[in-house]
Amino acid sequence: MKVERIAVVGGGTMGNGIAHVFALHGHPITLIDSDPGALRKGMEAIQRNLERQVGKGTVSAADRDAALALIEPQDGLESAHAADLVIEAIVEDEEVKADVFRTLDSIVQPQGILASNTSSISITRLGAVTSRPDQTIGMHFMNPVPVMKLVEVIRGYETSDETHATITQLAESLGKTPVTVRDYPGFVSNRVLMPMINEAIYCVMEGVAEPEAIDTVMKLGMSHPMGPLTLADFIGLDVCLAILEVLQDGLGDPKYRPCPLLRQMVAAGRLGRKTGRGFFEYGDGA
Ligand code: CAA
Ligand code: NAD
Repeated sequence: MKVERIAVVGGGTMGNGIAHVFALHGHPITLIDSDPGALRKGMEAIQRNLERQVGKGTVSAADRDAALALIEPQDGLESAHAADLVIEAIVEDEEVKADVFRTLDSIVQPQGILASNTSSISITRLGAVTSRPDQTIGMHFMNPVPVMKLVEVIRGYETSDETHATITQLAESLGKTPVTVRDYPGFVSNRVLMPMINEAIYCVMEGVAEPEAIDTVMKLGMSHPMGPLTLADFIGLDVCLAILEVLQDGLGDPKYRPCPLLRQMVAAGRLGRKTGRGFFEYGDGA
């Protein structure tokens, strides 16, 4: 199936990156967010990140303008009706996502594919609330989307070979490398990454070392581009907590229990970069 028109639901950290990359590859995009302030911030982030690429000489000013002209911001799901593919990138909460999938199923043209950028939630269960589980799939981009090469492709129990082939080819057409995995909690990426981030937070809580020192150990000792606490702030502490809860509930092993300090920081609204404060402070609050 040929995918031209794309709707992205959620204009936050991931949704705006996904819209950015597809628009740069010539796809008309409807970027939908129910919060007008978030939609505005999402469009500003796209502009800023395209500008950064123009500054580096990796994108021309003409391509930046063409990409921006292809993105239409909208606040209602109805505007997704003509999409060949919808990529959902809203909050990591199964009930909220399932509601959106139910609504999208009733709105989007019958041949449209419904994808989720979820970090950990079952694609099989999201597909099961629709009349098109065969056309439901996980298309898990990594943050920052314009930079990271991986797309983790998650096949739900009923995902068809045709849907899988379409999404795999589409990811390749963006210059990304798709890797297909089965539908288990946290897939591969977050089943491996989140226990490390959680353990780093336990190190803070137990006073093993200061956040800066923990990050330096992992950056200089293990050649990680970012320390685990900077990465947690970058992902969003609310997102990290939601993923750990899915791992703990879905796999039933206490080794995934979220660190109490992580719960406390989320409760206090210290969500990382997006709120300007997490383990570290950020002047730009972007
Ligand atoms: N848009 C466009 N370009 C961007 C960008 C963005 N949002 N963010 C960074 N860049 C570009 C920079 O312009 C720069 O380009 P050049 O190579 O052409 O100079 C390049 O990316 C590197 O950026 P910087 O020089 O500013 O900084 P850096 O070298 O520290 O790299 C980083 C930044 C790429 C984010 C790097 O720190 C990194 O790889 N961090 C780890 C990221 C990671 O692990 N992501 C996965 C998170 S987990 C996830 O996504 C899954 C989940 O479900 C939670
Ligand atoms: P975010 O909090 O930055 O953005 C979510 C956006 O969705 C917000 O702007 C919010 O207003 C909007 N939204 C919420 N409910 C909505 C609804 N019903 N309809 C329309 N818009 C709605 O979140 P994020 O970090 O971009 O994460 C989005 C998804 O991507 C999550 O499933 C997350 O697990 C996944 N993910 C996150 C990362 C990351 O590093 N942050 C990486 C990969 C995948």
